Amino acid sequence: MNQPALMSVEDEPLDDNFPFSGYPTGWFQVGWRQELEVGAALPLRYFGIDLVMYRDAAGSPHILDAHCPHLGAHLGYGGTVDGDCVVCPFHGWQWSPDGSNASIPNRDRPHQGVKLRSWPVRELGELIFVWHDALDRPPSWEPPAIPEFDDPDRYRPYPDLVHYWHKLRLRPQYVGENVVDAPHQQWVHRSPSPSTLVSFEPDGPIYRSKQEFTVGAGREKTWLTPDGPMEASLMGESWGVGVNLARYSGTDESLHVHCHTPIDERHVDERLTVLAAREPGEPDKPGKLTMRRFDFERYQFERDVKIWEHLRYIKRPPFTPDEARPYSSYRKWVSQFYLEADAQATP
Ligand code: FES
Ligand SMILES: [Fe+2]
Repeated sequence: MNQPALMSVEDEPLDDNFPFSGYPTGWFQVGWRQELEVGAALPLRYFGIDLVMYRDAAGSPHILDAHCPHLGAHLGYGGTVDGDCVVCPFHGWQWSPDGSNASIPNRDRPHQGVKLRSWPVRELGELIFVWHDALDRPPSWEPPAIPEFDDPDRYRPYPDLVHYWHKLRLRPQYVGENVVDAPHQQWVHRSPSPSTLVSFEPDGPIYRSKQEFTVGAGREKTWLTPDGPMEASLMGESWGVGVNLARYSGTDESLHVHCHTPIDERHVDERLTVLAAREPGEPDKPGKLTMRRFDFERYQFERDVKIWEHLRYIKRPPFTPDEARPYSSYRKWVSQFYLEADAQATP
């Protein structure tokens, strides 16, 4: 039987209904600590801009615009590190963490008239974040300090409990809106009973919410609930539109960190980091049950992605009474991260 041709996601029309333009302000994950060794200089491309990320000799990470102001070489392809500088692979000019020129081979002084843009960077736990602001304003808040990274009773996530999805066709905000969307749990994630959104609250650059649900509802036992159904909760925190923390309790007490970083205005790189409790008898590496839960999280996230990659954003949805307040509250909160908002669409 002939199958109708599936439209490639790239062929679909752009989501022209989205009420904000430009890239949002905030912290965005650009990698894991272990990916950037001392002395390494790597290419990145985010916010439509080519960047170089390097780790200096003292161990600090830095991000600069990628192209050397001398004759335009990309510092992330063959660049090296000397002290706290990145060294251009083309003629050896050295660039400081603040983007200024530190030295030129065979010259007795640096060039003072040229500078690279230097991007604020933070390394917290195993995550490396960059601050993006379209007007180049300095950070007005800090990315989340995650105490679970210091908990000796949890596995170090990298490399087993992390996952990287490259170039998903979605906007960071679609992921963020999940924190106030209790009804989708039953449909997208096949939750056997409804989830209840018990609280939602903006707090400056953070948005907090709590959902309660029953795991394994209606089943004598499942692989997640061998002792029968269990009441559980999900505490969600959005830190800007780039970072979502999900803390589960009642189940495995894990923390899931989902970070979504714009490559261009229509695509993100997504990174998942799970901080899970060490299993009895599996002190060093995640055991079978932990890995099964991790794979289950990846599977569930990919079910969301299938929706998001084909979504046409609805500016004024016909909300049910339960949805109206949390969604309006979230969408109002999110407008602070964009420079240009369509006034018609913000609640
Ligand atoms: S292009 Fe970088 S030193 Fe010449
Ligand atoms: Fe979801």
